[in-house]
Amino acid sequence: MKNVRHLIEPEDLSIDEINELVDLGLKMYENPKAYASVCQGQIMASLFFEPSTRTKFSFDSAMLRLGGQLIGFADANTSAAKKGESLSDTIRVMGFYSDLIVMRHPKEGAPKLASHYSEVPIINGGDGGHQHPTQTLTDLITIKRFKGSIEGHTVAFCGDLKYGRTVHSLIRTLARFNTKKFILISPEELQLPDSLKKQLKRLYDVEIKEVRYVEEVIEDIDILYMTRIQKERFFNEEDYLKLKNSYIFTKSKLKTAKEDMIVMHPLPRVNEIAYDVDEDPRAIYFEQSRMGVFVRMALITKLLEVGPYARG
Ligand code: CP
Repeated sequence: MKNVRHLIEPEDLSIDEINELVDLGLKMYENPKAYASVCQGQIMASLFFEPSTRTKFSFDSAMLRLGGQLIGFADANTSAAKKGESLSDTIRVMGFYSDLIVMRHPKEGAPKLASHYSEVPIINGGDGGHQHPTQTLTDLITIKRFKGSIEGHTVAFCGDLKYGRTVHSLIRTLARFNTKKFILISPEELQLPDSLKKQLKRLYDVEIKEVRYVEEVIEDIDILYMTRIQKERFFNEEDYLKLKNSYIFTKSKLKTAKEDMIVMHPLPRVNEIAYDVDEDPRAIYFEQSRMGVFVRMALITKLLEVGPYARG
């Protein structure tokens, strides 16, 4: 098997590499036309075994903006997986048809498995409740754009911290970036897994405060990261129904927040942020989804070693 770089979890990138991707993504945001042909002749396959709007289409948009081409599926029922083909066989074959594969899968670890069978780079577009590394890159480029730096903020995560893969990837990465103060806001049933909390404290010596309601801590927050209750990860409907309205962040809750606090959300939202929050300048979640295109453009050029990453 050829030695290629994959992105399965954020730790596959060093802090220096992440900073470089964020800075390149910001340059691409300022002047996307300058990169319009760097992927000419390259093909990206997007294999989505689970639904997606932002991840799939921002990757597609990124590749098209770089002058590349696309193949793939947004519904695994239209692929030979429906006939019982294994993931490893699908990946071996799709590597012949493309130069780069982006995949999302409901099973944790599926992209890692795929990487063992792939001669082209695999990018994890989300695996079960595990990791979502390119959402983390999207979150970091957004934080850099709106707060000026990634380091040094008090970051609160609110909602489903148990199953939310975006939270699991981002909190670990922010800790690597020397973020020291985290606030976790969730019902007891949806708390961040203990193993992850212990790891964060042991490896990065972070301070973690846990509360039930956002009102208890709103004045202290620099970045509020809201998340949806992950209906698809619950084992039964009854548990979901009990928790689905745990948080509804309304405009009135912003009254005592810092003037420069930002409200982020990986989207999609269901009902956890009221629509009246959208007009507040601190609500930046739609800009966040916009930034996903540019940081993914940067990532594609890195993994394909083209444009700014072309060798010699
Ligand atoms: N943020 C995110 O992963 O959104 P999609 O599920 O629409 O890809």
